[in-house]
Amino acid sequence: MAESMRGLHRSHRCTEVSNQNIGETVTVMGWVQKRRNLGSLIFIDLRDRSGILQLVFNEEAVGKEGYEKAERLRSEFVIAVTGNVMKRSAAVNESLKTGDIEVVATDLRILSESETPPFQIEENSQTKDEIRLKYRYLDLRRPDLQRNMALRSQVAYLMREFMRKEEFIEIETPMLCKSTPEGARDYLVPSRIHAGHFYALPQSPQLYKQLLMCSGYDRYFQITKCFRDEDLRAERQPEFTQADMELSFVDVEDVLDVNERLLQYVFKEAIGVEISLPLPRMPWQEAMDRYGSDKPDTRFGMELCDVSEIVKDCGFSVFTGALENGGSVRGINVKGQAGMPRKKIDKLVEFAKGCGAKGLAWLAVNEDGTYKSSFAKFMMEEALGALTEKMEGKPGDLLLFAADKNKIVWNVLGALRLEMAKELELLDPNQYHFLWVTEFPLLEWSDEENRFMAMHHPFTMPMEEDWDKIDSDPGAVRAKAYDIVLNGTELGGGSVRIHQNDIQEKMFEVLGFTKESAYEKFGFLLEAFRYGVPPHAGLAYGLDRLIMHMVHSDSIRDVIAFPKVKDASCLMTQAPGIVEEKQLEELYIRTTEVE
Ligand code: AMO
Ligand code: AMP
Repeated sequence: MAESMRGLHRSHRCTEVSNQNIGETVTVMGWVQKRRNLGSLIFIDLRDRSGILQLVFNEEAVGKEGYEKAERLRSEFVIAVTGNVMKRSAAVNESLKTGDIEVVATDLRILSESETPPFQIEENSQTKDEIRLKYRYLDLRRPDLQRNMALRSQVAYLMREFMRKEEFIEIETPMLCKSTPEGARDYLVPSRIHAGHFYALPQSPQLYKQLLMCSGYDRYFQITKCFRDEDLRAERQPEFTQADMELSFVDVEDVLDVNERLLQYVFKEAIGVEISLPLPRMPWQEAMDRYGSDKPDTRFGMELCDVSEIVKDCGFSVFTGALENGGSVRGINVKGQAGMPRKKIDKLVEFAKGCGAKGLAWLAVNEDGTYKSSFAKFMMEEALGALTEKMEGKPGDLLLFAADKNKIVWNVLGALRLEMAKELELLDPNQYHFLWVTEFPLLEWSDEENRFMAMHHPFTMPMEEDWDKIDSDPGAVRAKAYDIVLNGTELGGGSVRIHQNDIQEKMFEVLGFTKESAYEKFGFLLEAFRYGVPPHAGLAYGLDRLIMHMVHSDSIRDVIAFPKVKDASCLMTQAPGIVEEKQLEELYIRTTEVE
């Protein structure tokens, strides 16, 4: 039978009780973490969100009835206990904040009983993800998740505080929006009132925040949910949170400056990490050439090396063929790994193929200076020597090469570089390497669509110095776009926006929109720009990813209270679900899928 807490008032959270309170009477409430019965004494570890406090029950202090009640306690019962704070009778527990005290109970109430939980509520649970997510409300009782949630709350608070000081205004933008193409797939919401019409949930507040600039709000900020129906990975969720901002009368420097100070403030205040400013910057082209990635992890070297010049007449047709096809040959030097067993190397070759490579050429420099290699026999002696030298290959090194179109080579070696770093434990989680990646290409050719697509979005401002190439060589035009990268993750991104009609119209033309279709999709924005639009720019962080890094987790799910799994379903609520026929009728919807 559950008792009420009538007449009781919680005086402290568990770890708020300390040796300062010795001799006082306290009332604490929480969950039973653990019970130990020593015959005449019962010890209970009581848990609440602050931590753990040891309670002691003996018949003398709590009475016969109270003692019998204590004997019934099991894990996860919710109890209220009044008692006296004492110095610990047994050995001090150094690992607990309250390890030198205990509360000798004088009164016990069982507020709620618990069935045996499907898993133990403990730090670093080894329980399978599926079980944890099905019982997420229990999972969320675990101290590590509770810490993550608290940190998340604190970071959001710190961001708001900083932004307020910088005179940003927080404005909410709609969740029911118009579907606009470009970008990821939309989540659609059917309209009951407008038969056959749909809202889209926002992929980001992008268009609204630009409109707010037109409306004169000058500096806008919002922490808000965004929705994207895309394939999920460890760092992606279908609904996620952006810390989003937009500023008027600014250029790239102004946006980077305020954001560097924001990051510095939040990291210092939230987790005590000092970030020195200014943060390093790297143009996109350099990032690709050196790291094979537009979000390089700069905590370690193993940079890519372009050996195209060296191998152009080397005789190995895989290499020369790639060059003839307009591609390149590049490699990475994995230091000290020449002795890698053949089986493992074969796995790397498979890994490379999984990244789109046709193969992976490798060369191990033996300790005696001889080679072991998948291609040495196809290559002229002096070319081999020159290649090793260019790669700074020393005895003991393993050299890996990819030959293909640049995009594939970057992708393969960029991924291999990370894979090797993980394997060789080169990634120090306590280092925070921030990097601005700047000067992204404005456009990206899509084979699928057979046209140029905006790399960021169609409102991104081209760099003035490249604009004359927009007709002759659109792919070479760089954008005033920037990403903030942390330890190999894209934490956020943004750009300066186009505010001039002629540039915008040209952009739409290059993207293959007719004037009519551009108006149909983005008419409200283009209209708004006719009435006086300030130059503006902005950026958005993935808040979940930011927190994920702060807590050293490798999954975004650990920092979201109720996350979804890979197939975008919720294991706890079973969403998405089937709805009543009547609901569908009201929405003028008939499904073709029959369950
Ligand atoms: P972008 O599309 O780069 O830019 O998104 C900004 C940041 O949001 C995070 N993010 C995600 N996090 C978790 N799950 C996802 N599915 C997901 N998708 C994106 C990333 C990313 O860097 N409106 C522009 C910003 C601007 O130009 O101001 C935008 O949305 O951390
Ligand atoms: P092959 O001539 O196909 O037997 O390939 C010889 C070596 O080159 C093997 O180690 C292949 O894995 C490797 N290789 C094949 N294609 C490529 C490529 N595009 N880039 C790098 N190495 C490759």
